[in-house]
Amino acid sequence: MSKTAQLHFDGKVYELPIVEGVENEKALDISKLRAETGLITLDPGFKNTGSTTSSITFLDGEKGILRYRGYSIEDLTEKSSFLEVAYLLIYNELPSNDKLESFKQLITEHTLVHEDMKKIFDGFPASAHPMGVMSSLVSSLAAFYPESLDPNINSKVIDLNIIRLIAKMPTLAAWSYKNEMGHPVNYPDNSLGYAANFLKMMFSLPTEEYEVNAVAANALDKLLILHADHEQNCSAATVRVVGSSEATLYASIAAGINALWGRLHGGANQAVIEMLEMIKADGGNVEKYIKKAKDKNDSFRLMGFGHRVYKNFDPRARIIKRHCDDVLSSFGIKDQTLEIAKKLEEVALSDEYFVERKLYPNVDFYSGIIYKALGIPTEMFTVMFALGRLPGWIAQWKELREHGQPISRPRQIYTGETLRSYNK
Ligand code: CMC
Repeated sequence: MSKTAQLHFDGKVYELPIVEGVENEKALDISKLRAETGLITLDPGFKNTGSTTSSITFLDGEKGILRYRGYSIEDLTEKSSFLEVAYLLIYNELPSNDKLESFKQLITEHTLVHEDMKKIFDGFPASAHPMGVMSSLVSSLAAFYPESLDPNINSKVIDLNIIRLIAKMPTLAAWSYKNEMGHPVNYPDNSLGYAANFLKMMFSLPTEEYEVNAVAANALDKLLILHADHEQNCSAATVRVVGSSEATLYASIAAGINALWGRLHGGANQAVIEMLEMIKADGGNVEKYIKKAKDKNDSFRLMGFGHRVYKNFDPRARIIKRHCDDVLSSFGIKDQTLEIAKKLEEVALSDEYFVERKLYPNVDFYSGIIYKALGIPTEMFTVMFALGRLPGWIAQWKELREHGQPISRPRQIYTGETLRSYNK
């Protein structure tokens, strides 16, 4: 007989089923709780709430484990490519060589965006943050592919829209940067790989020759893999919530981009560099900022430290730290912000406040440093995260549909005024 837990309430005993995952994670199934007991659960920030079962990503925050479809993040970063990982996340299995080639081919065939999209770009002021531009553009893709609006869309059309999104995201991302710079946009170069094509669209200027640096393209590909999925994080949960209303793939992904934007989520990579620059401008006094981060009356937090689920170390941070050192030494970069980052890491890791609360550097602490070394401007960092996270969001959206999950609709405990009469 499967396990249950007992709830004693108002003199009655209720049996609540226990659901077990393949890695021995256990959950209390409360789907009938309200109907049977009148109770709901209260869990602000969903710290203890499993919103779904999922077979995409396994993560053990205590042990520092991250796996996509059963493959360790360490193996995938070392042996795979971003597009292969994207295929794995979306279609459950690593592709055969032939399947991977045709997947890549399809993606290169769809890298162009409709010329009319330029009119949308024209409407944005140069001051527009590229994340806002990206989410608007991804949303507007639904207008160009209206067949995606059909909630009963068949899997072939879904696959085509998935290909379109993966293919066009780098073009839109690079164009949002060009828009900010006021420079002419570059069209995709389909002779290049995914990361290399993106770098060329970002940095190539009509006035000079541009050759993609292989170390940079490789580092970027690895970074995209590291960010490709992270189970039910804020943006993935957002994609699922929006997708659960049968909104289009494009609208759901646009919502994910917006959720990622905030500095407590994907925006942390931008916030890390801004914090390091601020400390540098303030004379490099690391101790002062450690003190500020510990002060409850000061809203300052060490950006790039702490994680909702990793409480010992972030496995992505370990991998990325190695790449960070490689990139910086191969580019011969000696950067004072990097020195500050190293010092900050050293001091925080031995400080009681951080040790007690298990606050370790997360992936974004190092990713910002690599992006900076690759010449990517700070305000584009979160866009880079979005490029990487795209296959994960798509996989979450697809799984939600395949599971036929009901519309997301949490409850609340009301704490406002009770009925009052309208007498002004
Ligand atoms: N600097 C100083 N104190 C911190 C920090 C930090 N970066 N992070 C957490 N704390 C303290 C917090 O004040 C609290 O202390 P106390 O128990 O005394 O009140 C305790 O640690 C627990 O923090 P929390 O806010 O309850 O933890 P959370 O799980 O709700 O938040 C977090 C996780 C990532 C939002 C948070 O650690 C944070 O704000 N970090 C900085 C932003 C950041 O780097 N975000 C990127 C996360 S990785 C990318 C991704 O996967 O999205």
